[in-house]
Amino acid sequence: MKSKIGLGKEEYLWAKNRMPILTNLVRKYSKNRILGDFNLGMCLHITKETAVLVMGLAEVGARISLCAANPLSSKENVSEFLRYHNSNVDIFVNRQDDIDSFYNNMDKVLDTNPQIVTDDGAELHKKAVYRDQSFVGGTEETTSGVNRLRRLSNEGLLSYPVIAVNESLMKQLLDNGHGTGQSTLEGIINTTGIIVASKRIVVCGYGWVGKGVARCARGLGAKVTITEVEPLKAMEAFFDGYEVDELEKLLSINDIFITCTGQINIIGREHFSKLKDGAILCNAGHFDVEIDVRYLDRIYPRHYEPKPNVTCYTVNDALGKSKRIYVMTKGRVVNLIGAEGNSPEVMDISFSNQFLAIVYLSKMSSKLANRVYKPPRKLDNKLARLALSRYKIRIDKLSQEQKDYFKK
Ligand code: ADE
Repeated sequence: MKSKIGLGKEEYLWAKNRMPILTNLVRKYSKNRILGDFNLGMCLHITKETAVLVMGLAEVGARISLCAANPLSSKENVSEFLRYHNSNVDIFVNRQDDIDSFYNNMDKVLDTNPQIVTDDGAELHKKAVYRDQSFVGGTEETTSGVNRLRRLSNEGLLSYPVIAVNESLMKQLLDNGHGTGQSTLEGIINTTGIIVASKRIVVCGYGWVGKGVARCARGLGAKVTITEVEPLKAMEAFFDGYEVDELEKLLSINDIFITCTGQINIIGREHFSKLKDGAILCNAGHFDVEIDVRYLDRIYPRHYEPKPNVTCYTVNDALGKSKRIYVMTKGRVVNLIGAEGNSPEVMDISFSNQFLAIVYLSKMSSKLANRVYKPPRKLDNKLARLALSRYKIRIDKLSQEQKDYFKK
């Protein structure tokens, strides 16, 4: 039988072969060890794609301490492989970690005195800014994390410049849109085995992730309705051909609810008893706050797991009739816990962005203020060109006459 380390290595190689943009960047920068002796503190979902990023950063000279961005999303074979395969990587995650050790691991990462902090959700940044340590800069992978960082920045608490990698257009289009859309449906299908065609699905929130989830669900034959609070996004959803309605009206007639908002209590105590028997609830947003699972656990302590990653609660409606409600992956990111997260092809782009942002900070941070920066459009264009060439796609060029016409 293969060891966990051996299995982790195979997964790493599988991903690496599908991440040529990042691999080429690593090859290019490893010659002069561009991050030579740089200390990086990272808090990411520990997946095969993250292993490709971390091993690549080590190859260009960095020392890395890594902890998990979610208590349930770490892939054990991958963490074992990283632990034993690279002496430049310290990994702070263990299978038996509870919620306290999950947060303690972040402190252990910061104890290694990283110069650059890379995060997915800003939990590590939130700890870093209160430390009596100086950081060169930081990067942030996800929408919820960037929102938190902007709040820290507005309160004057941000003590280093941060590149919001999440706000690269390439990242939003491909990772948040296509990547999370597909992996969310994968998570639901893997975990429940249900057929999506014919299901009535509600997608809460029509940002990049909601759009991707809705597109994939519709592509698989579901009847999709969107809920929104922003009029522009609601109109966009309507003109994209979806039904748009208030959540309250949809509770009793839909089969699956997918939260993609970043907000708290999207599906909360006032909703559970109005759902139909057998309704499935899952979350694609970063934090486990969108479905009020804490309330369900408290009020219905006799819940059970009919399948791994599915919790069944029996709730009574207003007439005293009991109904089963199924919550997936404890209300945490269904795409990373119920499935393997975004595909290596998608993470090739997201993590190339991370890689370039870290390299940029290692050189430029002294010229930056302590605030949140969008990645420069130049970086997006560079990445788009690298990606087009990876897919062997050619595009046209403006003629001189056309360039001159634009200048007029
Ligand atoms: N976020 C979404 N998908 C991911 C993956 N495959 N690896 C790391 N972070 C992710």
